[in-house]
Amino acid sequence: MDRADGRQRELAWRTCPIHDLPRDLQAMGLPATDLARATSIADPAARQRFLTGRTLLRATIAELCPDVDAHTVAIEVAASGRPTIAGCADMHVSVSHTHGLAAAAVSTRGPVGIDVEPLSRTDLPPGHAWLTTSEEDRLAAHPPEERRRHLLRLWVAKEATLKAHDTRVTRRSITIHPEGHDRGRAVEAIEPDADGPVVATLDWERVAHRFVLAVATVPVEA
Ligand SMILES: CC(C)(COP(=O)(O)OP(=O)(O)OC[C@H]1O[C@@H](n2cnc3c(N)ncnc32)[C@H](O)[C@@H]1OP(=O)(O)O)[C@@H](O)C(=O)NCCC(=O)NCCS
Repeated sequence: MDRADGRQRELAWRTCPIHDLPRDLQAMGLPATDLARATSIADPAARQRFLTGRTLLRATIAELCPDVDAHTVAIEVAASGRPTIAGCADMHVSVSHTHGLAAAAVSTRGPVGIDVEPLSRTDLPPGHAWLTTSEEDRLAAHPPEERRRHLLRLWVAKEATLKAHDTRVTRRSITIHPEGHDRGRAVEAIEPDADGPVVATLDWERVAHRFVLAVATVPVEA
């Protein structure tokens, strides 16, 4: 199995190829609520992406929170589309799926967002619609052959951050700072509104050389 994952004490994330559900995931089964939602998805490929995402999310919950019954715990969906775990206010979850790969993250340290995209993706919206001025300047300083990959990293970082914030911020209000990208880690600051800046930690990984993934967490104020 082509897999990548990460785990810290309060954060776990996993990826799984969509065409290749590993046996331990299949063995988990899914509760009727997940299956009912799956049957409402007409497109078979989208249904498979959803099922893989749900199965992977439950496996990741089991890994980080063994005291929770990950087989049966209800995964609810807020009006915004954000998944939440019934009765577990301190557990935050996020899912992403693209052609060929699903990713799931579970955090008990605060809201989390995960996003994965294939390195081959070329249909991102025009940069001026979602990059900040400083990001556009930095991008222009990259050699042309590196720009597409850099742009994709900015995109997954912003998508993960949007999800951590339940999409209440805009892409242009999120600034991805360059420090540490090459060490596989970036720090990113968001200045959405009068509530003041919110800082999230971002973990970068290149998954199996074909995907770019970002995990964003929002620290909860003490
Ligand atoms: C919501 C959004 C982040 C999803 O990203 P995507 O690249 O299309 O798809 P991904 O596969 O990466 O993610 C899909 C998952 O995002 C999650 N999701 C959906 N809405 C979400 C939200 N508001 N907050 C956090 N997570 C959300 C769901 O878990 C979904 O998977 P599931 O339906 O299988 O459970 C994306 O559509 C987006 O950025 N939207 C911008 C804001 C927006 O359009 N808001 C809508 C109305 S104004």
